[in-house]
Amino acid sequence: MTEQRLGIIMNGVTGRMGTNQHLVRSILAIRAQGGVVLANGDRVMPDPVLVGRNADKVERLARAHGLERWTTDLDGALANKDDALFFDAASTQLRAGLVERAVAAGKHVYCEKPVADTLEDALRVARLADKAGIRHGVVQDKIFLPGLLKLKMLRDAGFFGRILSVRGEFGYWVFEGDLQPAQRPSWNYRKADGGGIILDMLCHWRYVLDHTIAPVRSVSCLGANHIPERVDEDGRPYRADADDAAYATFELEGGVIAQMNSSWCTRVNRDDLVTFHVDGTKGSAVAGLHRCVSQSNINTPKPVWNPDQPRTMRFVEQWQEVPDVVSFDNGFKVQWEMFIRHIFEDAPWQHGLLEGARGVQLAEAGLKSWQERRWVDLPNLTL
Ligand SMILES: NC(=O)c1ccc[n+]([C@@H]2O[C@H](COP(=O)([O-])OP(=O)(O)OC[C@H]3O[C@@H](n4cnc5c(N)ncnc54)[C@H](O)[C@@H]3O)[C@@H](O)[C@H]2O)c1
Repeated sequence: MTEQRLGIIMNGVTGRMGTNQHLVRSILAIRAQGGVVLANGDRVMPDPVLVGRNADKVERLARAHGLERWTTDLDGALANKDDALFFDAASTQLRAGLVERAVAAGKHVYCEKPVADTLEDALRVARLADKAGIRHGVVQDKIFLPGLLKLKMLRDAGFFGRILSVRGEFGYWVFEGDLQPAQRPSWNYRKADGGGIILDMLCHWRYVLDHTIAPVRSVSCLGANHIPERVDEDGRPYRADADDAAYATFELEGGVIAQMNSSWCTRVNRDDLVTFHVDGTKGSAVAGLHRCVSQSNINTPKPVWNPDQPRTMRFVEQWQEVPDVVSFDNGFKVQWEMFIRHIFEDAPWQHGLLEGARGVQLAEAGLKSWQERRWVDLPNLTL
C-alpha cells in the first residue's frame, strides 16, 4: 500500500460553506481518517492550501486547524504544479471566471453550486473543462442525505408504483439583522451580488428531482421579494432587492408534477427544514434530511370528511419509518471521496460541470418564468 498526495487549492474557504462543510467536515475529516482508500489499497491524502483575500483571516483559519499552507496569491497557487485540484466555495458571481482560470492552468476543478450565474457561462466552462480533459465536478450534496437516499431506494424498489406528484417545502425564517443577527450572508439578498433564492435553490431542486424522482422538463415559477430591507453584517441597513421566496411547479418526465416552495421568510412547522412528500399509485413517502416515512396502498387508512366532528385519526402516526440499515456519513464528505476516486482511479462520477449547468438552466428558466409569467421548457443540454 502506498500513500499518494492530492494538493488542493481551496478558495473561498473562510466562508460558511468553505469552512464548515468543505474544510472541516470533508477535507480535514478525510485526513483524520487516513485519506481515501482506492480499490488497489493505496490511500490518497488531501493536502490543502487555503486561499483567500484577507491574509489575517486565512492564516488564522489555517493555524486553527494545524495547516501550514495558506496564501492570498491565487495566481501563485494556480502556478504550483504540485497542486493538481482547484476547489471554489467563494461567492457565486466569481465562480465561472475562477473555474476558467483553473482549467487554463491545467487543474482538475471541483466547486460549489451554482457553477455560474448564467447558463451561457456554465456551459462555456463545462465545455472548456471537457476539452482540456481534466476531471471536474460540482457539489450536489442533497442527494447524499439519508432522507433522500431512502426516498431514492423506495423509487428504485418500485414502491411508489406510478409516481404522481411531489410536494416539497424548503425554508426557515432568516432574521432581518435588526433585532437578531441574520444567519445568512447579506449578499444572498442583493441581486447585484448574485443573491436570490431562485438561483440558490433551483440548482439543488434540479439534481434532487432528476436523480431521485425523474428528469425535470418544464418550470413555472413565481418569485417574491417579501422583505425588501435588511441589516448587514456591519449593522448597516441595505436594500434587499433579490427574491427571498420562490413558489415553483415543475413537470417531470412521465407526467410527474412537482411543487417546491422555497422561502427564507417562513417559520418552520414541519419535521425538517426541507421535506418532500411523494405520492404514487402504490404508496407514498415523506422524506426530510435524515428521516423518511412511507405508507403503502394496503396500509392506507380511510379518513372520512366530517368537519362537524373533531379529528380523531392521528395521521402522522400512520406512517412507517424507513430504517437506518447503514450508517450515513456527511454528504459533502461522501461526494469529496467519490470525486477523489474519480480523479485517481476513474471511478464512476455523475456530477460533472454539465450537471452543474443543468442546475443553472433550471434557475435561469425559473427566473424567466417569473419575469414573463409563463411556463418555460428545458431543452436537453449537451456539451
Ligand atoms: N451546497 C450547499 O448546500 C450550499 C449552501 C450554501 C451556499 N452554497 C454556495 O456556496 C457558496 C458560498 O456561500 P456561503 O454561504 O458560504 O457564503 P459566504 O459569504 O459565507 O462565503 C463566501 C466566501 O467567499 C469569499 N469571497 C467573497 N468575495 C470574494 C472575492 N471577491 N475574492 C475572493 N473571495 C471572495 C468570502 O471571503 C467568503 O470566504 C455560494 O456559491 C453558495 O451558492 C452552497
